[in-house]
Amino acid sequence: MNDPLWYKDAVIYEAHVKSFYDSNNDGIGDFNGLTQKLDYLQGLGVTCLWLLPFFPSPLKDDGYDVADYRNIHPSYGSLEDFTVFVQAAHARGLKVLIELVVNHTSDQHPWFQRARHAPAGSPERDFYVWSDTDKKFPETRIIFSDTEKSNWAWDPVAGQYYWHRFFSHQPDLNHNNPAVVDAVIDVLRFWLDLGVDALRLDAVAYLCVGEGTSNENLPETHAVLKELRARVDAHFTDKVLLAEANMQPEDVRPYFGDGDEFHMSFHFPIMPRVFMALRLEDRKPLIDIIERTPSIPDSCQWGIFLRNHDELTLEMVTEIERQYMWDEYAQDPQARINLGIRRRLAPLMEGDRRRIELMSGLLMALPGSPILYYGDEIGMGDNVYLGDRNSVRTPMQWNGGANAGFSAADPERLWLPLISNALYGYQAVNVESQQRNPTSLLNWTRRLIEVRRLTRVFGRGAIEFLKPDNHRVLAFTRTLGRESVLAVNNLAGTAQAVELDLSRFAGAIPVEMFGASKEFFVFLDGDIFLTREDIKANLLKCREHDFASAFRAICELEEDDTLRLLGNDDRWNYNGKYEPRRKKDLCDSSCIITRRGMRALGGWPETNGRTATDMSTRVEQSLKVFDSPGVARRLFHG
Ligand code: GLC
Ligand code: CA
Repeated sequence: MNDPLWYKDAVIYEAHVKSFYDSNNDGIGDFNGLTQKLDYLQGLGVTCLWLLPFFPSPLKDDGYDVADYRNIHPSYGSLEDFTVFVQAAHARGLKVLIELVVNHTSDQHPWFQRARHAPAGSPERDFYVWSDTDKKFPETRIIFSDTEKSNWAWDPVAGQYYWHRFFSHQPDLNHNNPAVVDAVIDVLRFWLDLGVDALRLDAVAYLCVGEGTSNENLPETHAVLKELRARVDAHFTDKVLLAEANMQPEDVRPYFGDGDEFHMSFHFPIMPRVFMALRLEDRKPLIDIIERTPSIPDSCQWGIFLRNHDELTLEMVTEIERQYMWDEYAQDPQARINLGIRRRLAPLMEGDRRRIELMSGLLMALPGSPILYYGDEIGMGDNVYLGDRNSVRTPMQWNGGANAGFSAADPERLWLPLISNALYGYQAVNVESQQRNPTSLLNWTRRLIEVRRLTRVFGRGAIEFLKPDNHRVLAFTRTLGRESVLAVNNLAGTAQAVELDLSRFAGAIPVEMFGASKEFFVFLDGDIFLTREDIKANLLKCREHDFASAFRAICELEEDDTLRLLGNDDRWNYNGKYEPRRKKDLCDSSCIITRRGMRALGGWPETNGRTATDMSTRVEQSLKVFDSPGVARRLFHG
């Protein structure tokens, strides 16, 4: 991966060192432990690791309260352990993304201690933002609304109030002061010199302040960021800066500048809208936000995610939408925090494998580089009773044994208790058992990542929505040069019929991406793909009845090259006669595409009043797809 645009094709995995693997049995994950688990991450297929803050810190904000920018928290190891980790990651082709939390420090940071003791107006005091009154900047909102009543806190030593956008133990650095910016650049160079590939700049929108403003997205802040970028480019190649700005896309757009500010930025508002679309069974919220997203310079990239270490933030939706999300996804008030929801992906999906797959499929197929949150690849649960956002930061579940294989310490000593309930507990949900099971969520996720990595079209291609009449179906193409991918997503809980106008692909040869067959593919129930190659090569992997029906379809296809009947499992008897058992089966059909252009035949039961023969004339120019919940993707070569 020597491409300077490597981040555009990246699949990023967000992990918490302290929750990943404990190598010295003190109940806290550490760098040596993480290094030991790199093979797992390489096997999963991710290409970049994002680590939450691991610096010396009083840990009142789980490390986002940094007390020393140039060291490792002793619980996690030493700088040497860190260097070994970086080398081991690089040896496996994995990039390393770490946090640069420079909007604020811990109040324990020597800069702050120095500042409060120094006289007002001195260079030391000026590292932070001070005021004699707590009434200054009334236009600025409070972010941690559950815990903070003001953005000012009184410091008795300094005899002044200091400014803080987050917790009151996190004073904001004064980025209006060039000396602060210089100090930050030194920190940034320190880590890049150690081999780190990318930096996530936490809370970038709040760096500078200005009288009479909201203190967000100020021009002064952009000037600081452009300077950081210029200094990175002057000293390094292939290093990447990622912005955390929880804003609407039009407000985030300036953080890319003309390709001279950030390489990447999170796209926050996509995330709640994916969840909303699923619950509403309507593609509108998602299409709206993507169509509203301004284009960005060619060298830039969005970072998209479903869940992360924070609450599922609802800051960027309307009040009505927020209430809807709370009602649907966080009925238990304990699951709510600030303006969000502190839960993980699997419980949000009520453990429904199909919905988890649909969401992960979208994460991989929508524009941007996907970010997976550790544990979500196995469907880990959360614990909303742990306080703050620890609900989603519990130890990784490696196996069903003692402490889930995370640590050999006494269970009481673990920094957070494991998830141990009957549904999501480590006995039921863990890496080891899922590795053994070919159909597990873990193995499915691995294959999904593999498919994403087959082509650059996902990371770099344009998106176009197809907007069929059925608004429960979200269909879009991603196109890069002569290559296009079609993604069809059924947002509904029931099977849906949809007609897609694919006339612009007439003459193209479809390739089913999971099986890579160019000849044709069959999908059964929308979530199992069988191809001729699959059947030849992976006979044993198919469940018996899947194999039987696919095989039958192939035989029929080979006989006369038109398909009279197609169907799922045992609803088709061996004489090719359709025998629906339940009403639901009527629309639960399959679809085959042959090499002969775009001919697709839906398996309409005659009781629907339409026969396959009727359809064959109508579908010359378009692809008919029946899909039950799940994700279907087709790749066309022009
Ligand atoms: C960012 C982090 C969050 C932290 C906050 C304050 O938003 O993602 O975890 O609490 O900054 O440092
Ligand atoms: Ca440890």
